[in-house]
Amino acid sequence: MSSMWGNKIRISLFGESHGKGIGVVIDGLPPGEPIDTERIAQHMKRRSPGFQPGATARREGDEISVISGFYNGKTTGTPLCAMIGNSDTRSVDYDKLVAKPRPGHADLTGLARYAGANDPRGGGHFSGRLTAPLTFAGAVAIQILNRRGITVRAHIASIGTIEDTPYDPTQTPEDCSERSLPVLSEDRGLKMRQLIETLRDEHDSIGGVVECMATGFPAGLGRPIFDNMESRIASILFGVPAVKGVEFGRGFKVSQFKGSQNNDSPYMAEEGIRLRTNHAGGIEGGISNGMPILFRCAFKPTPSIGKPQKTVNLETMTDDTVEITGRHDSCIVPRAVPVIESAAAIALLDILLED
Ligand SMILES: Cc1cc2nc3c(=O)[nH]c(=O)nc-3n(C[C@H](O)[C@H](O)[C@H](O)COP(=O)(O)O)c2cc1C
Repeated sequence: MSSMWGNKIRISLFGESHGKGIGVVIDGLPPGEPIDTERIAQHMKRRSPGFQPGATARREGDEISVISGFYNGKTTGTPLCAMIGNSDTRSVDYDKLVAKPRPGHADLTGLARYAGANDPRGGGHFSGRLTAPLTFAGAVAIQILNRRGITVRAHIASIGTIEDTPYDPTQTPEDCSERSLPVLSEDRGLKMRQLIETLRDEHDSIGGVVECMATGFPAGLGRPIFDNMESRIASILFGVPAVKGVEFGRGFKVSQFKGSQNNDSPYMAEEGIRLRTNHAGGIEGGISNGMPILFRCAFKPTPSIGKPQKTVNLETMTDDTVEITGRHDSCIVPRAVPVIESAAAIALLDILLED
C-alpha cells in the first residue's frame, strides 16, 4: 500500500494538492497522551511556505481539523484523523503540463502508472504538499517521544556546496529551529540564502542535505536483517518527495577509513557502557546502541523550474519545450527540515512502541 507506513503505529496519508483537502489517519497511538496543539501549529509553520528564502508563493495555511482520536487534550488510542483543507490553488498553472510533462517530476511516471486517471493538478498525490499531514503526524510523535526523554532535531547540512557546521555525533545539538534558515552557523546560512535567492532570480533551483539527530533513544531496540533500524528509518525518509539519498553516521565516508579509525570503542562510564565515538550513527547490527541516532538526507533540486526545458508533447507526440509558470520553491531543503524531523520521529516511535 503506497501511502501507508508503520508496524505498531500506522500512518495513512491521503489527498491531492488541488483537491478538497489532504490529511492523515494515525492508528496505534498510545491512549491518554497529552498533545499540545499550539506546539503542533508551531512545528507545522516551519514547513509552510513563505517563511524561508526562495519558498513558493503559494500560501498554504495548513489549517488543521482534528476529526477523531483526540479528546480532552489527549489521544484516545483510537485512530486520530487530521484534515487540512486546500486553499490558494491555481490549477490553471497546470493545464498545459498535462500535455507537456515536467522533467524531473512524477508527471510521466504517474501517467505510466495510473493511465491518466490520477489528478495531475499541482502534482496531485505526488505533491510536496502531502508532507503537511506527514509533518502533523510527526509533531504528535515528537511530543510522545519528548515525554520519554527523546529529542529529534535537524538542520540544513548543506545547500549546493555551501556547508553548515556538522552536528557533533556524540552531543545533543543546538536547537536552531526558530531561525528562518535552520543552520548552526549564521554566516553559512547567509551564504545559503544568497545562493537560493540567486537561483530563484535565474528561474532555477538547487538541492541540499538535511542532517538529523535523535538523542535519548535507548539501547537495544530494533532487530537485525531486513526490518532493521536503518531500513525502517530510511523507508519512511524515502517517502518524502525529492529525497534521493540517506546515510547513517559517517555514511558513504566510512569507505575511506581504516577499521582502527572507524570502530566506536566502548568504555565504562558512570551510567553504564558508553561509546567513545559515534561513527555508526547510533545503530549497530540494526539495533540502537544508546548513542545519538544520526543520519543525513540528500534532496534533489526542485524539479519545477521557470527556465525553458526540453520535454515531449503528448498531444502531438513530438519533442517540445516547457516553461513552468506555477509557484515553486527554488530550494525545498529549508521547508524539508521539520518534515525530516517528523518522519524520523514517526519511525522512532514505531520502533520504541514495538519493542
Ligand atoms: C516540502 C517539499 C516541497 C516541495 N515543493 C515542490 C515544488 O514546489 N515544486 C516541485 O516541482 N517539486 C516540489 N517538491 C518535490 C516533488 O514533490 C518531488 O520531486 C516529486 O513528487 C517527484 O518525486 P521524487 O523527487 O521523490 O522522485 C517538494 C518536496 C518537498 C519535500
